[in-house]
Amino acid sequence: MRAMVVRRYGPPEVFEYSEVPDPQPAAGQVLVRVRAVGVNFADLLQRMGIYPGTPKPPFIPGFEVAGIVEQVSSSTQPAAPDLAPGARVVALAMFSAYAERVAVPAHLVFRLPDDVPFAEAAAIPVNYLTAYHSMFQMGNLQPGDRILIHGAAGGVGIAVVQLARARQLEIFGTAGSSKQDFLRQIGVDHPMDYTREDFQQAVRRIAPDGIEMVMDPIGGKSFAKSCDCLGPTGRLVVYGFSAAAGPEGKRSLWRGVKALAQTPRFHPLVLMRRNISVIGVNLGRMKGREALLRRQLEEIFRMYAAGQVKPVIGKTLPLEQAAEAHRYIHARQNIGKVVLTVV
Ligand SMILES: NC(=O)c1ccc[n+]([C@@H]2O[C@H](COP(=O)([O-])OP(=O)(O)OC[C@H]3O[C@@H](n4cnc5c(N)ncnc54)[C@H](OP(=O)(O)O)[C@@H]3O)[C@@H](O)[C@H]2O)c1
Repeated sequence: MRAMVVRRYGPPEVFEYSEVPDPQPAAGQVLVRVRAVGVNFADLLQRMGIYPGTPKPPFIPGFEVAGIVEQVSSSTQPAAPDLAPGARVVALAMFSAYAERVAVPAHLVFRLPDDVPFAEAAAIPVNYLTAYHSMFQMGNLQPGDRILIHGAAGGVGIAVVQLARARQLEIFGTAGSSKQDFLRQIGVDHPMDYTREDFQQAVRRIAPDGIEMVMDPIGGKSFAKSCDCLGPTGRLVVYGFSAAAGPEGKRSLWRGVKALAQTPRFHPLVLMRRNISVIGVNLGRMKGREALLRRQLEEIFRMYAAGQVKPVIGKTLPLEQAAEAHRYIHARQNIGKVVLTVV
């Protein structure tokens, strides 16, 4: 099969479109014929070699696919009767999604409703599960609560905005200058251009007593500023560290060390005194909680059917143009999700 292989850690140019052996589904696995791949920010960090647990090159990166079940190992079939060959699915794959085929544990393969096209489907699992799990499982947000989402025009950001609208939350969102009109269009109540104003001051101006949740994937000093947006009962969701990635997509020890040095330490007694929580969310580390993810994804597909959520696809490129997809995201040009298609 053909796949995008990272031959060495580095900028997008390290990708090589190569012929590699087809994966063989092991016991408990399902072989999926990939039709679309969702590009996630974590894929960029994998390619750069700064995502925790990334294999040594050469490796195939990528987390999520939409496609068709091609083969099910004989030991898997009785436990997963809905995953017969021909079934339309989405799957969470660790480090192997940028390929024509991928073998995935059956508990991370989910049936896809017939009315969801593959390109849209590939934009759903990681973004919407991260948003849903953070906001409603861990965050217990209630109608009327106020939430700030960073990168509100990106993949996770748009998912958060749509879920927040569906649950009648008040939405604060940051993004670059060129994306401010888009934030208004999708229903962000308080769009903020972080290149022009300090988001913490902007939040406090509108909500002097602080808000109920901030979702922060930026890291470094941003965690401290986000925390200072919270009022009593506030929750900071820590779910990324984009600050470690430079615009050129190269590894920078200096950038990573600086961001780490600027990361605040949260003392438990301060959390108690301020009545706030810090919540960590990492979709890649949910071993043993797959049934929870399945229930959450079923609810997300119900919301899709009801017209409450719908991924925004910012760019669609063929698999072999993965380097272009990564350059586009490094340059912060993406509004919505970038999807790679496989014919
Ligand atoms: N923990 C989890 O399970 C989990 C799951 C999914 C995603 N995440 C994290 O959530 C964040 C968003 O992921 P995504 O896939 O939805 O990406 P995305 O938001 O669609 O794309 C990246 C956007 O992030 C903003 N950004 C901020 N710092 C950046 C930097 N140093 N380099 C490039 N862009 C930067 C840019 O938008 P603006 O300039 O407009 O802000 C850019 O357009 C990432 O940090 C990712 O690692 C975590």
